[in-house]
Amino acid sequence: MGKTRKGLRYDPKDAYFKRAKQEGFVARSAFKLEEMDQRWKFFRPGMTILDLGCAPGSWLQYASKKVGAKGHLVGIDIDPVRVDLANVETYVMSLYDVSVETPFIKPWAPFDMIQSDAMVKTVGIPESDVAKSIALVEASLKLAESGLLKVGGSFVAKVFEGPGFSDFYVDFKRKFKRNYVSKPEAIRQGSREVYIVGLEYKGAIGS
Ligand SMILES: C[S@@+](CC[C@H](N)C(=O)[O-])C[C@H]1O[C@@H](n2cnc3c(N)ncnc32)[C@H](O)[C@@H]1O
Repeated sequence: MGKTRKGLRYDPKDAYFKRAKQEGFVARSAFKLEEMDQRWKFFRPGMTILDLGCAPGSWLQYASKKVGAKGHLVGIDIDPVRVDLANVETYVMSLYDVSVETPFIKPWAPFDMIQSDAMVKTVGIPESDVAKSIALVEASLKLAESGLLKVGGSFVAKVFEGPGFSDFYVDFKRKFKRNYVSKPEAIRQGSREVYIVGLEYKGAIGS
């Protein structure tokens, strides 16, 4: 048994973990993306997607199937992935080092969608965990605005609720026509984790 920030017990081998094993996903995170996709219908065949913080690769597995052979995904993580899929290429590097000029990014830019599940290991100190999470999502958003996300494109990213989240979300909402905060069922009870969903990107403000 593990423990959440509120001291609640959780089973690391819960129903989602077991379902992931049965369905061949390398992580239970796939079901968070699946639940959000069922609501917002993110994917269509032929899409290009940038996946930030993609390891071990369950979001890549889910999205790869949805976009099909004509679609393409580029995944970035500081850790290597555990999947090998025909329409997916992955690179071991920090998202903080990615730019529109990165050689393996440039040919695919701008992407139809940016998905980011990036998170550092939590230390249990809310100020620190939330700040690191907001820094990651801000960096992902900056990449979107630097020319990596198509006007009209979608952005989905994990972020922790806590100090600084509201200010961040107010700013985020200005950039997309439709905005949501989602807490899929597969998120462990007591977690600060939520996903922000931005649909119909308006384009870099001022451009
Ligand atoms: C929850 S896991 C992602 C799970 C993934 N979506 C999946 O379905 O398999 C969070 C990931 O963020 C990655 N990460 C943390 N900081 C990062 C950074 N600066 N750049 C890229 N990846 C990072 C971690 O290495 C970890 O693999």
